[in-house]
Amino acid sequence: MRMRKKRHGSERLLALSALLYPDREGAAVLPGEVFGPDRPLVLEVGCGKGEFITKLSLLHPETAYIALERIADVCVVAMEKYARSRGLGDMGQNGGWLAPDGTLYKDGAVWDIPVDMRGNVRFLVADAADFAARLPDNSVSAILANFSDPWPGKGDHKKRLTSPGFLAEYRRILKPDGVFRFKTDNDGLFDYSLETLPENGFRILWQTGDLHGSERAADNIMTEYERNFSEKGILIKMLEASPVKE
Ligand SMILES: C[S@@+](CC[C@H](N)C(=O)[O-])C[C@H]1O[C@@H](n2cnc3c(N)ncnc32)[C@H](O)[C@@H]1O
Repeated sequence: MRMRKKRHGSERLLALSALLYPDREGAAVLPGEVFGPDRPLVLEVGCGKGEFITKLSLLHPETAYIALERIADVCVVAMEKYARSRGLGDMGQNGGWLAPDGTLYKDGAVWDIPVDMRGNVRFLVADAADFAARLPDNSVSAILANFSDPWPGKGDHKKRLTSPGFLAEYRRILKPDGVFRFKTDNDGLFDYSLETLPENGFRILWQTGDLHGSERAADNIMTEYERNFSEKGILIKMLEASPVKE
């Protein structure tokens, strides 16, 4: 996702940094410490501008979500969208974040949002591969990847979010009854994923070449990219797979 550098992007991120997953780089990730034990954990890889995770998380308040996005200026847009949806205020007219009590968080000020107002999503500016590698085995109920970059170049296939390196980590961290859900506009990436998943310890449970024309259309939550592609008449492809574990 290409994006012009956001004005005051880092200040905007700081204002809402209580919504970031409190990650310690290099350390094991222990989501139970953040969300409390025994809550299903769902990971979105490449959340983009956050419309999908914002809507999905409202439907499932009992589930804990971590939304990963490697570009900070994109992640901040997602966090602001989520914060607005949770009644946590809005951007101030002249910059900064305006909390519902009228306090303006600006110029590096951090709003220590009360824990009970933070909701069930934490965002993180991180690479999905690095983060997944630090999650415990069998700790994740679902991994969601929407419209990930196709990386069509010859030498770039390892960057695809359904390449064998990623799938090995997904398989390790997913619970035995966990699922991997993947949507794309890209035929090449879809076909590639339908090959790599079974080759790397996944069973395809469901697939469609036309999500919006399928029985899942009614429950589908559109992402920003999905809306753009479908407005251009491009069919949306989706698959769901589960890890095969001995
Ligand atoms: C094409 S956009 C789709 C965004 C959103 N999921 C949607 O459907 O509207 C892909 C996003 O994934 C992010 N991304 C790509 N590879 C990633 C990785 N390895 N880890 C985290 N984010 C990644 C990109 O920065 C970009 O914002």
